Amino acid sequence: MSFNQSRFVSAIPWDNASFLRQGILMATRFVVLAAGKGTRMKSAMPKVLHALAGKPLLAHVLDTTQQLNPQGITVVIGHEADQVKQAIKHPVQWALQSEQLGTGHAVRQGLEGIDDHDTVLITYGDVPLTCASTYQALLDVCDEKTIGLLTLMMDDPTGYGRILREAGAIVGVVEQKDATSDQLTISEVNAGVVAIKGGTLRDLLSRIKNDNVQGEYYLTDIHELAVRDGLSITAVHPGDAWEVDGVNSRAQLARLERLHQEHLATQLMNNGVTLSDPARIDIRGQLDTGTDVVIDVNCIFEGHCVIGNNVQIGPNCLISGSRIADGTRLLANCVLESAEVGSDSVIGPFARLRPGTHTHSGVRIGNFVETKNTLVGEGSKINHLSYVGDAQLGSNVNVGAGTITCNYDGANKHKTTIGDGAFIGSNSALVAPVTVSKGATVGAGSTITRSVPADRLSLTRAKQTDIENWSRPVKKSS
Ligand code: UD1
Ligand code: CA
Repeated sequence: MSFNQSRFVSAIPWDNASFLRQGILMATRFVVLAAGKGTRMKSAMPKVLHALAGKPLLAHVLDTTQQLNPQGITVVIGHEADQVKQAIKHPVQWALQSEQLGTGHAVRQGLEGIDDHDTVLITYGDVPLTCASTYQALLDVCDEKTIGLLTLMMDDPTGYGRILREAGAIVGVVEQKDATSDQLTISEVNAGVVAIKGGTLRDLLSRIKNDNVQGEYYLTDIHELAVRDGLSITAVHPGDAWEVDGVNSRAQLARLERLHQEHLATQLMNNGVTLSDPARIDIRGQLDTGTDVVIDVNCIFEGHCVIGNNVQIGPNCLISGSRIADGTRLLANCVLESAEVGSDSVIGPFARLRPGTHTHSGVRIGNFVETKNTLVGEGSKINHLSYVGDAQLGSNVNVGAGTITCNYDGANKHKTTIGDGAFIGSNSALVAPVTVSKGATVGAGSTITRSVPADRLSLTRAKQTDIENWSRPVKKSS
């Protein structure tokens, strides 16, 4: 059974203490709407897969819902459903809405497996930044008699459903396109997120009609019906307005990305990091930092990165899934991919540390040096223009400019081992598998194909000849 076909698997075992009330097993379930086409994105990719901070919009929503340990998450998909299923690895139950007949119709497709006493939280796959605490506040107000509805006041409510109140109580929601001119002046809007009991939801959804301007089954029509049935609707407000910002266009996506990055930059500074310009850092994953870290402009962090105390990062560095220990300086324009850099080292400028690079403390890796799957011992230096791959360097090794470990024979990769205190002269090729033993010196310009014994000078250079009485050719006169 492939993952995508599998039924929902609960991430967290039943917590009977909190859900077994009055002998009724109750559960929290999320229904995430993600069937829409996203026409305004002008993209072959479904809207919910477009990335914010390096992660699909829908994955943001699912990560947040998972923080609340729900008993189930159902995602309603339709447009390019297969692409969405392939890209999303969260343990969710998929529901197909083959025709997009409105938000109410979409939720109806996602009701399978939901019990009457379950609390259902309905949210949208294109609203990525709603906080878990906001979802929780909605769940907290919801009971058999009360629906929780996320609303907020907007200076410009254009496009949103408006909240209708009588004597202060919510009595319904009217869509922009169906609103009277009086209703259009209402500035309290429907953010779209609802918490409601499963049984109530199923009943109300069976009664909504599509006799409106858009000919759609509106989820928002459940509220008026609910009030008529004697239920009440309690408004919950988000902590920040951007929590409810949806993405409909690439311009909105870019704006939300900036807002999100600004928020992350502020968090970093609050944690003791100096940013040369908080508007010029991008965090596309998780960045853990020590104290007194200084980060210059235009740095990008991907995946999970861990930066120790007193680390300085120069401008234009791309750091992906890497760790940098205390007191190390990364100079301008370095690229680190799944690398571990030890303490008190200097890396760059223009160094590329590829996966499997692991350096000990006090190391120096200079400009135009590429390393891959390589251990660099304490105090060792690779200062200029080198490729060191599939290698193990002891401590205090000096690798001269232009050194290449020839690790690949066209079919297989081989290892180069260099002992403590060895010195590799400039422009040397070390043809792996090969060992340079400790204390050995390789003369500049050598091609080393056999192991070099300890403490010797090895060189494969052709002897220099000096030709006497030789003169340079001169140009023929025309
Ligand atoms: C909806 C609300 C509106 C609210 C706004 C907040 C309704 C009728 N209106 O309007 O009151 O102010 O959100 O952003 O609910 N979707 C489906 N299947 C469908 C239709 C939509 O899955 O058949 C999904 C879309 O992919 C999207 C979400 O539901 O993620 C919202 O749909 P959208 O058409 O954007 O609703 P709005 O007109 O914005
Ligand atoms: Ca929308």
